[in-house]
Amino acid sequence: MAQPSDKALVPFVSVDHMMGLVHHLGIEEALRGLADYIEADFRRWEKFDKSPRVASHSDVGVIELMPTSDGEAYGFKYVNGHPKNTSEGLQTVTAFGLLADVYTGYPVLLSEMTLLTALRTAATSAVAAKYLAPDGARCMAMIGNGAQAEFQSLAMKAICGIDTVRLYDIDASATRKVARNLAGAGLRVVECKSAEESIEGAQIITTCTADKQYATILTDNMVGSGVHINAIGGDCPGKTELAPEILYRSDIFVEFPEQTRIEGEIQQMAPDHPVTELWQLISGAVPGRRGSDAITLFDSVGFAIEDFSALRFLRDAIAGSGFFTPLDLLADPDDPRDLFGMLRRAAPRSVRPGQPPAALGPTARGSTPSVG
Ligand SMILES: NC(=O)c1ccc[n+]([C@@H]2O[C@H](COP(=O)([O-])OP(=O)(O)OC[C@H]3O[C@@H](n4cnc5c(N)ncnc54)[C@H](O)[C@@H]3O)[C@@H](O)[C@H]2O)c1
Repeated sequence: MAQPSDKALVPFVSVDHMMGLVHHLGIEEALRGLADYIEADFRRWEKFDKSPRVASHSDVGVIELMPTSDGEAYGFKYVNGHPKNTSEGLQTVTAFGLLADVYTGYPVLLSEMTLLTALRTAATSAVAAKYLAPDGARCMAMIGNGAQAEFQSLAMKAICGIDTVRLYDIDASATRKVARNLAGAGLRVVECKSAEESIEGAQIITTCTADKQYATILTDNMVGSGVHINAIGGDCPGKTELAPEILYRSDIFVEFPEQTRIEGEIQQMAPDHPVTELWQLISGAVPGRRGSDAITLFDSVGFAIEDFSALRFLRDAIAGSGFFTPLDLLADPDDPRDLFGMLRRAAPRSVRPGQPPAALGPTARGSTPSVG
């Protein structure tokens, strides 16, 4: 069988590879590593192309493309959000993504990003909380116990040092699942019967529910002073989690205002409602928490640069490892202009119903004497 040349091959990280890599590194180490890459990229924010993601909405969900570039590498993620999916045995969020070399335009990494998105979302939340949560925050309420919940909890432990999570979900089986998955992870896990109960004594409140509508997971009277809110689930037009009164009382931090004003909690506010960009906080340009009584809110929607950071982290983490497959992704004729010749030489193949196609002949990929 004709072997593709090195130029044709792109490292591909499958779901299986990703799971292997995370186990190899240890999940908390992976989250800390991702957080370092995210922080590094937020510190060089000006270098990046930035635009709100391209969203295609339907009645049941959204499909989004999230591109960015730092001038040397280009990345994008394909991601969906379909809250009804879990009732059909499918994930609410799935994703894959690609990193490319700007100089040649050639892809240098293709990866699953369903797991990577959960990891990067959690790492970003924890980076924001590291700068914004009250000193000595040790307890987090985790409202919404779906696919993201364990990742959020472990990132807050690994990066911010929380030791307790108080879980609540309208579906008690989701809460039991998280409690089971976090057993032995070094966190005290408390299963709660209401959102109110879950926020008792919590300095960090994470909302991570999925509902394609304006929901009110937190009402104004539930949120006391001196807490940090990590609002993850409101990330689409018409899909929010917080009562607007909370936003009036909060210092609001966002990833990219042009996107968050469309998708985040602040879509409920006037278009000029004051917000601070997270990168300014991380780069030291603006202060974070104003005092122990302040309410800080990270109005997270997920931004392309976080995925770019995650892909960069992954590219470096798999180098020299077995956690990828070289994928025959790019056509690479020996003569770059003889793309058709390469196709033509590959033509004679027998295909039997239900059988894989026969292997290509030895000269199929190269430019050695073209046939006919
Ligand atoms: N900000 C980001 O970067 C980012 C990244 C990934 C996912 N998300 C969003 O986070 C949300 C959660 O994602 P997921 O993959 O964990 O979804 P999921 O469907 O796996 O879990 C959502 C959970 O929320 C629970 N829930 C729904 N309404 C609730 C309510 N009123 N009170 C308490 N619990 C409630 C559901 O029972 C479910 O267990 C989604 O809305 C998703 O779009 C945001």
